[in-house]
Amino acid sequence: MNKVVAVANQKGGVGKTTTAINLSACLALKNRRTLLIDLDPQGMSTLGLGKPKEPFKGIYQAMMNGRDLMDCVMGTELENFYLCPCSPELSGIEAELYAAERREKRLGEAVEKARRYFNFIIIDCPPSLGFLTINAWPRLIRSSFPSRRNSSAWKASRISFRRWRPSGHTSIPGWPSKASS
Ligand SMILES: Nc1ncnc2c1ncn2[C@@H]1O[C@H](COP(=O)(O)OP(=O)(O)OP(=O)(O)O)[C@@H](O)[C@H]1O
Ligand SMILES: [Mg+2]
Repeated sequence: MNKVVAVANQKGGVGKTTTAINLSACLALKNRRTLLIDLDPQGMSTLGLGKPKEPFKGIYQAMMNGRDLMDCVMGTELENFYLCPCSPELSGIEAELYAAERREKRLGEAVEKARRYFNFIIIDCPPSLGFLTINAWPRLIRSSFPSRRNSSAWKASRISFRRWRPSGHTSIPGWPSKASS
């Protein structure tokens, strides 16, 4: 069985990328074939793994150009740890998705084709609740909201959680089952 985990919080600088990279590395060290998708136009997962933001090879191409996601996957220094990087084109994707068909399903469709190759797929989301993050929320994807309790990041997590709660697919360890203000 494989799992897809989106690491998301609309607040910036709360540890999404750090969580995504370390979680992926830990899973790879446990011999789980793991793919990290850099869905943030800042590309910090890509750069953090020592990879360049190369044009025309990244998650944008899989979502918008119909390219096979596996064509955009590269290895890392760790065995079992693979990266689908952020390419420079990802910076313009929010505006393009606005007018695109199946605009909230592009990532899910791209990921579905690659799922059988990996035990885990980890998605590093941007600090927003725009189309990119919405794309990380089809039924197949679980969610993780890094934050510290009683911080502004925690409040942002609650807002993110409330937004997605109606879909019934959120799972946040340590959270109250009912989000109250
Ligand atoms: N658990 C932690 N303890 C202390 N510092 C941390 C922790 N996790 C991340 N950091 C630091 O916090 C800063 C922001 O982390 P990171 O880039 O992972 O956040 P982010 O949520 O991905 O940011 P952005 O929203 O800009 O993508 C970094 O300097 C990182 O080293
Ligand atoms: Mg980040």
